[in-house]
Amino acid sequence: MDRPHYNLNIPMKFRPWVSLDDPRLEHPNPTHEVDIALDDLRLHNPELIDFLGELGMEVSHLRLFRSRPWARYSIHIDLSPDDYADTEYARAADQIVKLNFIFNSWGTRMQWFQQAQGQRPQRNNNSGFSFYSFDPKTCARVYDTVCDRDCLIHAGRIHTAFNTANNDQDRMCYSLFLVSAQGELNWDRAVTILTPWLDVA
Ligand SMILES: [Fe+2]
Repeated sequence: MDRPHYNLNIPMKFRPWVSLDDPRLEHPNPTHEVDIALDDLRLHNPELIDFLGELGMEVSHLRLFRSRPWARYSIHIDLSPDDYADTEYARAADQIVKLNFIFNSWGTRMQWFQQAQGQRPQRNNNSGFSFYSFDPKTCARVYDTVCDRDCLIHAGRIHTAFNTANNDQDRMCYSLFLVSAQGELNWDRAVTILTPWLDVA
């Protein structure tokens, strides 16, 4: 499998604007996620929107992930079974390309997997968001990286993330779903466009 993660070096610094004290992020679960209005992204990071626009890309939506120390996500893909029939999910999954802007992260790891032939994902739900999850017993790990920095990730391939003690702080990740200005954007195309700003070593 070609790699599903690249650290990112774009010419502007992402400016976060949601406080950890924001009531939207309050939740008893170790992991919690909320959708954030794209207008807020444009307001706080107009240079980023312009930069992506010049490359023919847009942000289709933005989700903010808050995770506690030692939090662990299930093995999943970021694709809602409510949006796609199971028979279409492989094609749709290839288009889940995300830019992640990460704060308060010390040693979080992301890992990617391949599922054994003939196995199927399960439908699951966290904080009201539905997604596909996978039985760890049916998956083999194929990629493993530290994920503390701005990065481009393939969220349509099977993956998980888990935190360390994280300096006893919550981790925050602004996760931008990318599309091309024409609509669909698959992983290979996104990597090609963004190669000048990716750590490819
Ligand atoms: Fe994910």
